[in-house]
Amino acid sequence: MRATGRNIELTIDNLVVNYDDEGDEKAPAIIFIHGFPFNKSMWDMQVEALKDNYRVIAYDIRGHGNSDAGDEEFSIDLFVNDLLCLMDALELDNVILCGLSMGGYVALRAIENYPELFDALILSDTQCAADTPEGKEKRLKAIENIKENGVENYADESIKNLFAAESFITRIKVIAAVKNMIVGTSVESLINTLFALSTREETCIKLDDIKMPVLIMVGSEDKITPLGAARVMHEGIPDSFLKVIAHAGHLANLENPSVFNHHLRKFLHRFAKKQFHYS
Ligand code: MLT
Repeated sequence: MRATGRNIELTIDNLVVNYDDEGDEKAPAIIFIHGFPFNKSMWDMQVEALKDNYRVIAYDIRGHGNSDAGDEEFSIDLFVNDLLCLMDALELDNVILCGLSMGGYVALRAIENYPELFDALILSDTQCAADTPEGKEKRLKAIENIKENGVENYADESIKNLFAAESFITRIKVIAAVKNMIVGTSVESLINTLFALSTREETCIKLDDIKMPVLIMVGSEDKITPLGAARVMHEGIPDSFLKVIAHAGHLANLENPSVFNHHLRKFLHRFAKKQFHYS
């Protein structure tokens, strides 16, 4: 029998994966993939908004939240493999994927390699480019910083870049929750994931092969994966729609959930009705 609800634990190849699974089993399934270094709780407002009409799954990527880290070296391809194992265990195909930032890297790579398993894609605050040499250098500095000054300091430094300026006044609780997600991630997982991010391959060259409806959203003040990166994906993916989310930085779904959810719902509704003239 299918387990439903929050914080379900499933052991796949000796790795405990923690996930939420809400909504009707027969409804279209959406899988949410979180960014780095967060966990599935960053999607709580979207799960709540969609669960009456969709089967909504949000899971913790290995080493994040309450999922095991395992023994293997982290990579985006390993995270894709974990996603496929979860889908296999839940007997899911024809999935709609929604990924933010690192979650978007995983989603783009999954769709590049296994397009037949997915029906639609939502990308938020992410990019198709790999790390530049300067970007890789920053990752190494971040690793040194974590080793020398600890996770709390890393969290405080990261938070400065994650949010729109006004969120520091209007979204104090969200910022505290995000800090908790960061400090709740082990030093080992932070370092392993930073290596995985720095060695990821670009997915821009294959954007034209994505033959499904794609909604791209980006916070108007996203400093990490800015509007320009969203435009590159929009221009590359034939059936894509771009929405800029005002009053938001890199975590658009948390900083402006009402507008984010409005676009999400509208896209999904049009997709369900197979009307792709989204405006
Ligand atoms: C994320 O939010 O997942 C990270 O900002 C991704 C990255 O550092 O490239």
